Amino acid sequence: MEKSRPQKRRVSIAGMHIDRASAVPIHLQIAAHLRNGILQGVLPAGTQFLGSREIARELGCSRTVILAAWDLLYAEGYLESTPRGGVTVASVKQAQASPAPAAVSSSGEDSSAIEIGPVSDRWRSLLAFDYDTNWKSEFSPGAPDVSSFPFKEWARLLRQAWQNPKNSDCLDLPPEGHPVLRSEIANFLGSVRGLVCTPGNVAVTSGTSGALDFCSRMILDQGDEVWVEEPGFVEARWTLTAAGARLIPVPVDDKGLCVPEGIRLAPNAKLVVVTPSHQYPIGVSMGLERRLELLDWANRNDAWIIEDDYNSEFRHQDSMIASLRSLDRDGRVIYLGTFSKLMMPSLRIGYMIADERLIRAFSKGRARIDVHTSGIGQVALAEFMREGHLLRHLRRMRKVYAARRAALIDAITTLMPDDLTVSSAATGLHLVAFFTDRMRARMTDAEAVKLLLQTGIHVQPLSQNYLGEPTQQGLVLGYGRLHTEDARRLISKMAACLSGPAS
Ligand SMILES: Cc1ncc(COP(=O)(O)O)c(C=O)c1O
Repeated sequence: MEKSRPQKRRVSIAGMHIDRASAVPIHLQIAAHLRNGILQGVLPAGTQFLGSREIARELGCSRTVILAAWDLLYAEGYLESTPRGGVTVASVKQAQASPAPAAVSSSGEDSSAIEIGPVSDRWRSLLAFDYDTNWKSEFSPGAPDVSSFPFKEWARLLRQAWQNPKNSDCLDLPPEGHPVLRSEIANFLGSVRGLVCTPGNVAVTSGTSGALDFCSRMILDQGDEVWVEEPGFVEARWTLTAAGARLIPVPVDDKGLCVPEGIRLAPNAKLVVVTPSHQYPIGVSMGLERRLELLDWANRNDAWIIEDDYNSEFRHQDSMIASLRSLDRDGRVIYLGTFSKLMMPSLRIGYMIADERLIRAFSKGRARIDVHTSGIGQVALAEFMREGHLLRHLRRMRKVYAARRAALIDAITTLMPDDLTVSSAATGLHLVAFFTDRMRARMTDAEAVKLLLQTGIHVQPLSQNYLGEPTQQGLVLGYGRLHTEDARRLISKMAACLSGPAS
């Protein structure tokens, strides 16, 4: 196949197979199909595609899906636009210069398999998730501010723990975690979260992600249905996919997960993964009626609920909302928490709270896989908590984050009142700035993100948190690392950048 001779005829992609039952979003399937075709020379440079409306009609999906696939391939350098607004294949050299993302083609073939060799279907579908993290940006939704962390105390306790360690701490740490740390976590949750538990209910994990990985492998068999929030936490979907789950996206409204809709879509699901205190990314908290409905359904159907309570320590208004676990009378809820926001994500320490029976099963299984979370840090962390440093840091950071949140909201509401409306969520380290109708008429959130990137502002589009078609458009704006004095400057730059149409 000649790779460089331009074709004049506009081509269709009607022949591609879309797997509507797949966990891979349709725009990613389309992008993967085209990427493969381009890399293999089947779609040479200069190939011009039919218009997005025609392609959408042929494939039986919405135009937004096609535009999302185009956006991705433009950003990766595989496509470019013609002066008359058409879409063509860019030169192969240009496309290959950008990192080749992992992808699944419609036929199930993985372009990355060429480089990484054969991998399992589960792993291949995991690699197919594309997600733009903006970890280094001031607007990263997950990043805490570590600049005022008490490293002096932390270093002292690490040194103290490891200068003259006990033999058992070096050789014989239990898979469910160091007993002293388990006990400190139980105390901490009682005082900060109002969650009553004993050390026997606690297992130390490698963050929420590690807990979710083990729990999903412990609970699920290949192909089991799992309700996930739509929109939701993409990383949880990766983990569930790797465990062989069949994801069932269940919509979220202003009261959280729509339980009746979940029951309608997959009444026999084995597991539900929810963020009831502060839904990720929207930020709503799940209403009491919904919580009771969910518990009742899980109990009647022998299903498990994983409650991801990732940053409920940072509640900036109102009183604290009781956890789902504290309403659970039947041992259905596995509660997950993390030190990633309170301390730092690289610590990789989190915890799960569940009935002792489940903790014992977890512990025995974990001993057979990766033994336990790294012991370095567990003893020091227990002492850090016992001496009160963690609580002091939490109190200090609550004030810092509340001020940053207020500064961001003030900047958005005064500088972009006609384009963005801010989610009411009062917890955590991020908020969602939803697009108003006026803004939606001008551009999609993916287009906005692309424009902003050109001015050095890196934010995440709300739409990338949807498994299916996005029903809302907006920007997910973290403020953990956004200094109050920078909020106005950055939002006014954002306002200037997004004031006109996308192209
Ligand atoms: C919804 C949600 N859960 C959990 C986490 C924390 O994960 P981990 O404890 O694995 O760092 C994050 C981090 O960004 C998150 O956004």
